[in-house]
Formats: sequence, structure tokens, C-alpha cells
Amino acid sequence: MPRIALIPGDGIGTEVVSAARRVLERVGECEGGIDLELVEWDLGADRYLREGITITDEEFHRLSTEHDAALLGALGDPRVPGNEHARDILLGMRFRLDLYVNFRPCALLDPRLSPLRNAPAGMNIEIFRENTEGSYVGMGGRFKADTVDEVAVEEDVNTYKGVERIVRSAFEYATSHGRPRVTLVDKANAMRNSGRLWRRVFAEVGAGFPDVEQDAMYVDAMAMDLVRRPERYSVVVTSNLFGDIVSDLAAELTGGLGLAPSANIHPGRYALFEPVHGSAPDIAGTGQANPLGTIRCVSLLLEHFGFDAAAGRVDRAVRDSVNEGQTTPDLGGSLSTADVGAWVADRMSANAGAAS
Ligand code: NAD
Ligand code: IPM
Ligand code: MN
Repeated sequence: MPRIALIPGDGIGTEVVSAARRVLERVGECEGGIDLELVEWDLGADRYLREGITITDEEFHRLSTEHDAALLGALGDPRVPGNEHARDILLGMRFRLDLYVNFRPCALLDPRLSPLRNAPAGMNIEIFRENTEGSYVGMGGRFKADTVDEVAVEEDVNTYKGVERIVRSAFEYATSHGRPRVTLVDKANAMRNSGRLWRRVFAEVGAGFPDVEQDAMYVDAMAMDLVRRPERYSVVVTSNLFGDIVSDLAAELTGGLGLAPSANIHPGRYALFEPVHGSAPDIAGTGQANPLGTIRCVSLLLEHFGFDAAAGRVDRAVRDSVNEGQTTPDLGGSLSTADVGAWVADRMSANAGAAS
């Protein structure tokens, strides 16, 4: 039985995970044979401020060895301006567990949810963000800190191994899911060292996938083009930092941050699921947070464990919620976070009943 760690975290993270938990619990009731053990973890800003501890080594070890996957809400709190706890817990899991694929699918469920005039029906962009290297590794340092002579260096680390495995994952996904094109997004005109490595590896790996169209775009032009011609993008592969930025943009174009799920995966080893959004301090505690991104993470999680029918059932209930306007205010509805969780769970039962 898969054992899932639930890490609600901070701000709206706690609210969206609580709504997603209702859906996870309902999955077992709707679908015979699926038993998930859910273990809640108290990690986040409150704990850090209370005890001065982000996560201990022993906890980290248990989190990774005693669970098959984790579902995280969000980490980030204005009371922790240095973001130490998010670095230790979230980036800690990505780096220490070597979760090198950050898979961020952005699928438009209804053209009216997009701010684009020309949003194509069925717009669907899957971002493969490198998740263990780039500008996130923390190499570098500060010299003459806090003086007018301060020098701050943030190294951008790219290895053959790291680039190869994320590019290969993107091509393999395109092939197995019948996606027409893989686009490499980089800044090879200015960042020439990393650019040469990414372009060489992209060409080398791409040669093994002759049926998949392949092209490369500079990230500035791609950001513009994504707004101008969203229909020409399918699978996108890019570095850690560019992937972070492009995924918020793609999420907004396909219905907003509240709808976008993501998975941090080391295939065959461990997976951490989390919505693309953060802890949204501006709406925390108001009940306005959209839980559908986190609920879509539940679907990715189920698919990850091979429970495809159950994942489909979650997706269908999410679609119904959007189509029937049973949503939070960001999508035009008037339900609260908890109401949407309950609505989706009930719709899953209703759909299961109708099918049997
Ligand atoms: P954010 O994603 O939290 O919020 C950006 C905007 O989107 C806000 O206006 C917010 O209200 C809105 N929004 C986000 N999620 C929403 C939802 N589910 N429903 C409706 N509206 C939603 O980004 P931010 O404000 O830059 O970051 C806040 C904190 O979260 C920071 O500390 C940041 O570091 C952290 N963060 C954490 C994660 C994570 O844990 N995975 C991801 C991103 C940001
Ligand atoms: C995300 C977040 C994180 C990132 C932050 C919280 C470190 O923005 O998951 O997209 O930059 O990866
Ligand atoms: Mn981000």
C-alpha cells in the first residue's frame, strides 16, 4: 500500500492540502483496491518559528524512506524573509532525493479561463524543468557583504549528466504521449557556456527521436511567443530558473496558478507532488484559495502509482467543477476552498455511482 506524506506547509498550503485530502480519501471509497496511507507532517514556518528547526536529518530520512511519495501545499511565510525552511524542506527534497524532473503540465480546461484572446481549445503545454542544478545549487557567495563594495555570486551549474537526463525525459514523454514537438528553451545567445552544452545534448538526444519535431528558442522570445502563438508549444524542456518562470506564465495562460499541478520525480525512486503556486499570503485564511491545482496533483500521484482509472475519475470531477462553475472566485465561482474539495469528492462518488 503506497504511503503518502502530506506536508500542508504554510499559508494557503494548509487549506489546499486539506481539500485535496478529502479527494484522496474519497478515491479509496470510489475505486476498489486502492489503499493509500496518509501521514501528515508538521513542517513549515510555524514549526520553524516555534522550535528553530526546519527539518532534522532524522525526519528527512524518515520522510524519504518510510514513504513512497509526498504531497506538499506550499512553503513560504512573510515572517521568514530568508525562506530558510523552504530551502531546507522543499529544495532539500528536490536536491537530496535527486528529484531531477520537475514536470509541470499546463492544460486549458476551457478557453474562457485564459486571459488570451486567441486561446486554442485544448491548449496543452508540458514543461520539463531541470530540478537539481542551474542557479538553484547555492554555489557562490557574498564578498564584503552589507557594504557598498558587496559582490554577490550565484553560480549557474549545468552538467552533462543533469542536462542529458532531463532532455531525455522530455523526449520520452513526447513519444509515449504522442506529443508532436519538444522545444528547448535557453539563453544560448548570452549564456554561451551553458547554452552550448544544452544545445549539444539536445541535438544528441533528439537524434534518437526522429519522429518528434524539435526546435530551440531563447527564453525572452519564447515568453513572448507563448502569448502570441500558444498553440505551437507542446513539450518544453528547460533549466531550473527558466522553468520556474515559464511555468508561472504558462499556468496563468491556462487558467491561473490555482489550477496548475506539478510533480518532482526521480523515476523509480520517489516523487513529490505540489501545486505550482506558493503560500499566497495575500489570500491565506480567506477561503479563496483554489484547491484544483493540488487536486490535479492527486491525479498525477494516482497516475504515478499506476491507478489510471482513479486518476481519470479525479480529472473528470475537476473538469465538471470548472464546466459547472463550482469553483473559487479566481475562476468566477463563489465556493470556498473547502467547498470545492467537498464538491469534487462528491462528484467523484456520483460519477462512480452513475458508472456502476
Ligand atoms: P504565490 O504563488 O503564492 O502567489 C502569487 C499570486 O497568485 C497571489 O496573488 C496569490 O493570491 C495568487 N494565487 C496563488 N495560488 C492561488 C490559488 N491556489 N488560488 C487563487 N489564487 C492563488 O507567489 P508569491 O506571492 O510570490 O509567493 C508567496 C510565498 O510562497 C513566498 O514565500 C514564495 O517563496 C513561496 N512559494 C512557495 C512555493 C512552493 O512551496 N512550492 C511556490 C511558489 C512560491
Ligand atoms: C516553485 C517555487 C520554488 C522554486 C521556490 C519556493 C523556491 O517558486 O516551486 O516554483 O523557485 O522552485
Ligand atoms: Mn515558482
